Amino acid sequence: NKGNYEHYMQKEIHEQPESLKTTMRGRLIRGGSCKAKTVLLGGLKDHFKTIRRSRRIVFIGCGTSYNAALAARPILDELSGVPVTMEIASDLLDRQGPIYREDTAVFVSQSGETADTLQALEYALENGALCVGITNTVGSAIARHTHCGVHINAGAEIGVASTKAYTSQIVVMAMLALAIGGDTISSQTRREAIIDGLFDLPNKVREVLNLDQEMKDLAKLLIAEQSLLVFGRGYNYATALEGALKVKEVALMHSEGILAGEMKHGPLALVDENLPIIVIATRDSCFSKQQSVIQQLHARKGRVIVMCSKGEAVSVCPGGLGRVIEVPHVEDCLQPVINVVPLQLLAYHLTVLRGYNVDQPRNLAKSVTTQ
Ligand code: UD1
Ligand code: BG6
Repeated sequence: NKGNYEHYMQKEIHEQPESLKTTMRGRLIRGGSCKAKTVLLGGLKDHFKTIRRSRRIVFIGCGTSYNAALAARPILDELSGVPVTMEIASDLLDRQGPIYREDTAVFVSQSGETADTLQALEYALENGALCVGITNTVGSAIARHTHCGVHINAGAEIGVASTKAYTSQIVVMAMLALAIGGDTISSQTRREAIIDGLFDLPNKVREVLNLDQEMKDLAKLLIAEQSLLVFGRGYNYATALEGALKVKEVALMHSEGILAGEMKHGPLALVDENLPIIVIATRDSCFSKQQSVIQQLHARKGRVIVMCSKGEAVSVCPGGLGRVIEVPHVEDCLQPVINVVPLQLLAYHLTVLRGYNVDQPRNLAKSVTTQ
């Protein structure tokens, strides 16, 4: 049921304030006057000891689910206290990459049925790792075959291009980082700030959804383009990959997410007056580096569109050069949840304007159950 919406993708983008609430329901504890703020993940409570003692935590997924893990990586690195690595399921299988008994392997999948991820799970089980699932589908193959896990509870996702599952997956992995980290004194202030940020996140997502019309206007400008680049780094490298993936899979426009730190090692050669480039430059520890990327793109007459934190248009666009997308500012590790929304909206409007099938893009399936 699409309700008042024309397409499932549109509905699922707009229901993110609610889906995020459901994802967090019962799992965030604000505590009383003397009780600390904590996270409760019922499905993992008996396994945290083993997870904390593991030699490594490896996240495994495909497509958007892989991007979600990549978005959560910095906070997992920071809080978990265990080395974290990432694997695209098919690549892990192609290489028969190392998975050991001492590893915790986390399988991220909206459907819980993706063949590559499922086969990687069988492989990790054979190698004796503790296998954890993060899935949206109760009773799915991945939910059944993992030792334990977390349901993201985002509600059914119908559009082939994943939107609300992506933001819920990031939130679950941020909660996972908090839970694995436990209550180390040194990170207490940081943890509480993240928990406060999580409580307020649905409101902030509602706010960023107000950019709908602005993104539609931007889509009108970009409708006939051949290609679109998205530059990100740090917390928002994954946002660049995911934004580009949305544009390519539904709007059928070539789009590439680029790690901004790699700009000088190739992508800079593409820059001219015509190729549109979205640069994600919201306020975090990478901000000044992104400012310098923007300057260098302007110096080469690049067609730059900057995503920045609200009220910061002047510091990212000196002299009013280029377009800006201003988004609400949240705790750095949660910013990817906000920043992806305008890109989802852009991909959606580009698709409708270009006349393509939004919910079932050609050649793609919601769940790829064959290899
Ligand atoms: C569970 C209930 C929820 C209830 C809550 C009350 C289910 C599905 N969930 O939620 O309805 O409101 O208790 O405390 O009945 N699991 C895996 N692999 C996965 C995902 C999950 O093995 O990929 C396992 C978990 O380890 C857990 C079970 O499935 O044993 C349910 O997981 P989850 O729904 O995340 O647990 P709760 O949030 O505690
Ligand atoms: C397919 C979908 O390619 O599988 C994508 O079209 C999705 O949207 C990918 O990200 C992985 O799916 P899942 O269900 O394992 O998260």
